[in-house]
Amino acid sequence: MSEEREKVEEVRTAFLNEFDRFRDLDLSTATLASADEVSRELAELKVRHTGKKSAIAGTMKLIGRVAPEERSAFGQLVQSVEKDIVSMIEAAEAKLSEFISDARIERERLDVTLPGRRPRTGHLHLITILRQRIEDIFVSMGYHIEDDREIETDYYNFDALNIPDGHPARESQDTFYTTDGFALRSQTSTVQIRAMERRGVPIRIIAPGKVFRRDTPDMTHVPMFHQIEGLCVDKDITMAHLKGTVTEWLQRLFGSDTVTRFRPSYFPFTEPSAEFDFSCFKCRGTGQFEGERCRPCKGSGWIELGGSGMVHPNVLRAVGVDPGVYSGFAFGFGLERMCAMMYSLDDIRLMFDNDVRFLEQFR
Ligand code: DAH
Repeated sequence: MSEEREKVEEVRTAFLNEFDRFRDLDLSTATLASADEVSRELAELKVRHTGKKSAIAGTMKLIGRVAPEERSAFGQLVQSVEKDIVSMIEAAEAKLSEFISDARIERERLDVTLPGRRPRTGHLHLITILRQRIEDIFVSMGYHIEDDREIETDYYNFDALNIPDGHPARESQDTFYTTDGFALRSQTSTVQIRAMERRGVPIRIIAPGKVFRRDTPDMTHVPMFHQIEGLCVDKDITMAHLKGTVTEWLQRLFGSDTVTRFRPSYFPFTEPSAEFDFSCFKCRGTGQFEGERCRPCKGSGWIELGGSGMVHPNVLRAVGVDPGVYSGFAFGFGLERMCAMMYSLDDIRLMFDNDVRFLEQFR
């Protein structure tokens, strides 16, 4: 073999040695990243082994040294080696690029039938939810929602509400006092006075809010809890309006078969006074639920909710309203006990532990 042909064979062998790892490429365990890497290496090999500056193109220059009658065959040899090199590289490229494009499609595949990831959002506290439901009912009945201060003077917490000096509710074991003699309101009834001073009469308000009492926390007591106070004063308001109003909002909350019951009682700021109960929302007043003693009402069929009565003449006088012309009713109840019964909670302190695992069950 001529020296020139040998040179061509050398170049071909050198290429084949280098190309060996790209021949019969096994991509069965390749990843997108490793295939990308192989394809970069192949591109680099292509630059070196094809084109005008490649070794094989260089061998064409040897044609001048080849005997004239051999030149045509030599030229064809060089061209065919060059063509083989290019086609081998292109075959490997095609295989790689197919793998890479399949792998990309696979990576970007989106299963639209997968369940979505729900973002964690905050929500209202269970007491707030119940308060808002009750507020909505009263707003639809024409009541204003009244908000007022939590730190009060004795005048608003007691005197104006006809709670005389010496009444047990005044004793400091019940009421928190600040060092300078202000009371943390122990009942939302204080808002009756504030609201009548501000708005005058006739008036229809409910006042939801926090109240504070010096109670040692246990399953049924916490030193801060929530009440809703209701007040309606106008001409010719009677006990029938009180009973009708309390029955109406409880029926809207618990269903139209709910009935109420008023038991004579005593509150300093009402005369006459009554405590009110409603038929249990769970057993519908039967005392039995699924063959067992009903839990919320302890089998009695009744749930005791709050206090009420006709606004005491002294309370009306305290805000300059003539009890000879106007009369009214008032009622008040706590939200925690109600909430605990509605959600079957044994311990009302759970509501204030701020444990999300507990709270997020009630939204
Ligand atoms: N303030 C009373 C309490 O905290 C509840 C109450 C009773 C409110 C009778 C009233 C009422 O408005 O008329 O126990």
